[in-house]
Amino acid sequence: MAIDVSRARAQFPALQRTVGGRPAAYLDGPGGTQAPESVIDAMAGYMRAGGSNHGGPFATSRETDAITESARSAIADLFGATAGEIAFGQNMTSLTLSVSRALGATWKPGDNVVVSRLDHDADVWPWVIAARDAGAEVRWIDFDPTDGCRLRTEMLDELIDDRTRLVAVTHASNAVGTIPDVRAVIEAAHAVGAFTYVDAVHYSPHGLVDVVDLDTDFLVASAYKFFGPHTGCLYGKREVLETVDAYKIRPAPDEPPDKWETGTQSFESLAGVAAAVDYIASLGSGETRRDRIRTAFTAIGAHERELAQRFLDGIAGLPHVTLFGRNVADGRTPTFAISIDGIHPDTVAETLGDQGIFVWSGDYYAVEVIRRLGVADEGGLVRIGFAHYNTLDEVDRVVAALAALSL
Ligand SMILES: Cc1ncc(COP(=O)(O)O)c(C=O)c1O
Repeated sequence: MAIDVSRARAQFPALQRTVGGRPAAYLDGPGGTQAPESVIDAMAGYMRAGGSNHGGPFATSRETDAITESARSAIADLFGATAGEIAFGQNMTSLTLSVSRALGATWKPGDNVVVSRLDHDADVWPWVIAARDAGAEVRWIDFDPTDGCRLRTEMLDELIDDRTRLVAVTHASNAVGTIPDVRAVIEAAHAVGAFTYVDAVHYSPHGLVDVVDLDTDFLVASAYKFFGPHTGCLYGKREVLETVDAYKIRPAPDEPPDKWETGTQSFESLAGVAAAVDYIASLGSGETRRDRIRTAFTAIGAHERELAQRFLDGIAGLPHVTLFGRNVADGRTPTFAISIDGIHPDTVAETLGDQGIFVWSGDYYAVEVIRRLGVADEGGLVRIGFAHYNTLDEVDRVVAALAALSL
């Protein structure tokens, strides 16, 4: 089953906007995907119905309880988990800081944690700070800039040992699009009894997340990257959520998943989270929602690979454009980091922005990636990312705009 892109696009009000008389080409780079009408309706519906805090003995509170449950079971279907293993928070960064604080409290001098240079800083610095506080060592998995920014999993043997407490790795790089061999990282970590923490923020709109297949202890995503609102989503294996002490205040529940949630949640966002997962499922087919999500990602993957190949073929003919990352459509997301000879990345982003093509420049918080690529002093790179609702015509439009930047 292929994606009906026109039908999908028609559901996104923001995709109907124009900039300077031209249709806006929303790419996923500008800090999130757009939301379909069903997500917007669900959020507004919650607010209109007079939502209130959870756990009270009256209708609006019971409705909030039901919405929280439906959001948990939706994310459980998105990740292949169970609802009791899903907690929400303000965003991925806050959730990760909170988990790092809890895990870090158990670390001692002589312990070590392993992070990767391919990761967004939100899956790097919380662990570095926690290690620093505990007097533990930080070790780095490198990536190979000369080999499509591949994560160097061959380093795992020398990095991971019986004092390794945690290994954090991204499911896909938000800067260069690499999809690393996450399973290899998790197997190596588990071989020594270390916890694993997977950042699926960038991966989750592009591919199927399967926490059982990965066998990870933790995994995080952010709903605004998968067609929903600004809310962070945390998965933790049930026994891990149960046994690890959360940093929490006294009245908060002691049981998971609630003990991992701080304060009052954005319940209107949770209404939107469930609707976002239903939107993804609507792109697929099958009996259960998980089946529909699985088939949806098969279709999303096929369409996005076509977009990626078109983009790669297009820039291959532009000598003033340099690609940083894998130059084939598989093994990566359709998100590309490029530089343009002689033009600052901010100027490129501004020029494209004036034409209604929304892309990002700089490091997009992937601090280590940009440093490792040696481009931090030149203002980083331009990031151009496509999502399933983008068309081949939009890719051609972006390539034509890049072609016109030749000095
Ligand atoms: C790969 C990746 N990880 C983490 C984050 C941080 O997510 P949040 O904004 O929900 O804190 C982002 C945001 O862009 C990201 O792309």
